[in-house]
Amino acid sequence: MNKIIFKEELSNEVTRIVVEAPQIAARAQAGQFIVLIIDEGGERIPLTLADWDSGKGAITLIFQKVGFTTKKLGGLNPGDPIKHILGPLGHPTEVKNLGTVVCVGGGVGIAEVYPVSRAFKGAGNRVIGIIGGRSKELVILEKEMRQTCDELFITTDDGSYGRKGLVTDELKDIFGAVERSTHTKYPELVYCIGPVPMMKAVSQLTKDYQVKTIVSVNPIMVDATGMCGACRCTVAGKTVFGCVDGPDFDGHALDFDELSRRLKLFKEEEKNKI
Ligand SMILES: Cc1cc2nc3c(=O)[nH]c(=O)nc-3n(C[C@H](O)[C@H](O)[C@H](O)COP(=O)(O)OP(=O)(O)OC[C@H]3O[C@@H](n4cnc5c(N)ncnc54)[C@H](O)[C@@H]3O)c2cc1C
Ligand code: FES
Repeated sequence: MNKIIFKEELSNEVTRIVVEAPQIAARAQAGQFIVLIIDEGGERIPLTLADWDSGKGAITLIFQKVGFTTKKLGGLNPGDPIKHILGPLGHPTEVKNLGTVVCVGGGVGIAEVYPVSRAFKGAGNRVIGIIGGRSKELVILEKEMRQTCDELFITTDDGSYGRKGLVTDELKDIFGAVERSTHTKYPELVYCIGPVPMMKAVSQLTKDYQVKTIVSVNPIMVDATGMCGACRCTVAGKTVFGCVDGPDFDGHALDFDELSRRLKLFKEEEKNKI
């Protein structure tokens, strides 16, 4: 049993909870995730470790209430237990001192990009953040991202906050400025987490500029042990499993169309659960 010790609504759709999980907090690294089961008979859902505090023995999870389990989780309150939390899972993001790293987060993906941007900053990189959402209320963790990024750009689809447009518009401008300059270089790495179409668009753009790009995939997961095959993806023509080989993969080699198709596989069944 893991007890919820803090809860905050970041928007109508997105909730932050802090949960007691000392063993996970002691080993967590940026880019890793957990799988939780709320109660007996509940389904397993993967969530990224948005933050952790080994001193307090607590982890932070930030989730969008999209379906049965995330809505049920959003209905829990401080003091309530979560039956099982398994983790940390997945390979940590490979964090090195590279020079300049651009961290791009879309929607709830901002919660997932935050610990990665903090780790790149901690490793001595210059970190440029680009975060975007459909509208102002979906742009979360601005304060936290400002603390970890040397520069932060914000976009919204409807123009209600920051620049009206997509995260790729800011990225194009960053690349364009380098193209026109005689003394600046392209970033060494772009790291991106968000909806599949966003990660695909970012990867297509960075491929044109030959800037290495890592994306963190969110396929449907069942066992998260590499046994069931639910999270199968294709990278450079080879089958990989998001849970044990990822979640980070080369954005220039990942088959995004397959990932999109597989994410829709259980849409009808999921609708009937609610
Ligand atoms: C490694 C990993 C880390 C993740 N981290 C986070 C996180 O930090 N915060 C967060 O909000 N979400 C995260 N997700 C997505 C999250 O696991 C799903 O949103 C959740 O499992 C949906 O469960 P549900 O029962 O609420 O919705 P369901 O009833 O299962 O589904 C509702 C809708 O959401 C879609 N959906 C289901 N699973 C996913 C998925 N994996 N990705 C995108 N859409 C999905 C379904 O197709 C359906 O349309 C992560 C996924 C993975 C694989
Ligand atoms: S979730 Fe089953 S193999 Fe990855």
